[in-house]
Parts: sequence; C-alpha cells; structure tokens
Amino acid sequence: MKATVRAHPNIALVKYWGKRDEALILPHQSSLSLTLSPIHVTTTVEFGAAADHVELHGHVAKGSERDRVLRLLDAVRVQAGRDLGPAKVVSRGDFPMAAGLASSAAGFAALAVAGRQAAGLPADTRASSILARRGSGSACRSVQGGFCEWLRGEREDGEDSYAVQRFDAGHWPDLRMVVAIVDRGEKEVKSRDGMKATVETSPYYPAWVKDAEAEVPRARELIAKRDLEALGELCERNAWRMHSTSLAADPPLCYLSAATLGLIQHLREQRKKGVPVWFTLDAGPNPVLLTDAAHEVAAEALARACGAVDVVRCVPGGDAAFQAEH
Ligand code: DP6
Repeated sequence: MKATVRAHPNIALVKYWGKRDEALILPHQSSLSLTLSPIHVTTTVEFGAAADHVELHGHVAKGSERDRVLRLLDAVRVQAGRDLGPAKVVSRGDFPMAAGLASSAAGFAALAVAGRQAAGLPADTRASSILARRGSGSACRSVQGGFCEWLRGEREDGEDSYAVQRFDAGHWPDLRMVVAIVDRGEKEVKSRDGMKATVETSPYYPAWVKDAEAEVPRARELIAKRDLEALGELCERNAWRMHSTSLAADPPLCYLSAATLGLIQHLREQRKKGVPVWFTLDAGPNPVLLTDAAHEVAAEALARACGAVDVVRCVPGGDAAFQAEH
C-alpha cells in the first residue's frame, strides 16, 4: 500500500502550448522533450492512511495544489476498482522550485507511478503517462527517460494521448543542458493560464499548432543523427514561435526579461566565435542552453557572465524509478 518513486523533470525541445480539453489535459499538438538528470523529485504515496494528507516540498499543500494531487489519486482508485482508503503523499524536490524547470512535471510523474504501485496495479508506462498527464500535461513526458514524444492523440477520452520514449538516455550521452537561472522570481502568469489565454486570443495560435506538430518528426530525425547544430536551431525556432504566439495574445504575454534577452544576445555572439551553444525557453525568463560535454563549462561561464544567479548542469536522465523503503 506504499511506494516511493523518483522522477526527473524534462525540458521540451518542441513545446506543448495549449489544450483542446482543459479537464483531461489534452493538447492541441504533439511535443518532444529530454528528461534531465541529476535533478529529481521523490514522491511517496501510501494508501490506508488516517486521513488524506499532501506534503509538497516541506509544506502541507492546500487548495488547488492539494486538489490536483488528490484528483490524480482518485483516478488511481478508479483504476484499482476498490476502496484504498485515504492517502498520504510526501513529495520533495532537490532543486529550487523557482528554477523555471517544471518541478510539477517530475512530481506528477513520480506521483502517477508511485500511486499505481501503492494501489497494487501492474507497472505500465502508458497508463502511468496518461495518469501523470491528468496532473500536469508535461508530466506525461517524465515517466520515461531520454527523449520522449507526447502524442497528441485524437480521442475525446484521452486514452491515445500519452508520451512514448523514442531514444533512451544512453542514446546521446554527450548532450548537455545547462539551466541558467537569471531570475528567481515566480512568474506572473502560470503556464496553465498563459496557454489558455493564447489559445483563446492569439491570432497566431493555429499557425503555432501546425508548425509545432510538423517540427516533432524533424526533431526526432535530428536526435537520431545526434545533429547538435540542426537540433539547436530547431529548438530556438520552436521556442521563439511559442513566445511569439503568446506575445500576440490579448493582453500580450511576455515571459522574457531583459536578462533573458541579454543572455540570448551573448550566446549568439559566442556561437559566431565557434562555441556550439543554443537555447530553449519555457514560459519563464530562464533559458536552458543546449551544448555538448566539451562546452558545458563554457556554457556555464556564458550564463554567469550574463548575470545568471544559479546554473544547473544536466545530462540526459533515466526513467521514473522505484526507491527502496526505509
Ligand atoms: C512551456 O505542463 O506545466 O513548459 O498541463 O497546465 O499543467 P499544465 O501545463 P504544463 O505546461 C508546460 C508548458 C511548457 C512547455 C512544455 O513543457 O512542453
């Protein structure tokens, strides 16, 4: 009745931005991401507790935060088809929550895998991915390691909308992702609200959907070839297009700060000088740099020279994994 799972966050190389179903969290387009190690979230689920209790990163969760967790566990109860009793959930991350990386993605992936195990359900990456998706869309891509593609699916019930692993973490061990924290503040508009406003008000949104869907197979091919330069160009293009469609929302959504733009400018100059470094950017000001092992120190130095207050160097990460109970 108890299980502990550790999962890594992921960074989208082709972003998910916009839902066609808010309740089930079904996207308008497919996306593709890389799981990041060593940063991770560890989540323990125990059914049969005295009362529902949700503890996230050292504090007792309340309101919508708590509801999202308990709703996911309700879905586990339905799958188990039996009364499992109240649940105790304790989740903790090893990276700063404002790091700009979706800690919720790792958290919900760990919660889904641990929840199913604690309920006595068999290990099933597809079922866990669908479950994680219902907590937070991007979480469906953190159930497995390496490069994962979230297939948008067609069905209204979402049973064909889940992530599949295209390449495992060992496919490209030389790849590096360097998270540059230029701004520690909480973002003004959360991804969930930002993407909703974009879907509803941006005239560029249909173009975004079509383009992003077409970029996924291209990114897959470049990853297969381990073509860093072409993948870097694709990532930047996709990030710019996600931000462009958001800037065109009404009112406009701008996630970029002066520090973000300064870093991007500097990165381009370095690239002209032969440093192989590209960036991607989620719905926040902190860029994630793509480079190779030989240039990760240079990428970190570049970020720090542009005022990054913190830098996290990552390598391709593995699957969500069970941890021994103490
Ligand atoms: C910009 O998965 O956090 O990071 O499904 O509403 O929980 P919800 O949103 P979330 O959005 C992530 C958006 C993104 C791009 C991405 O990770 O693909």
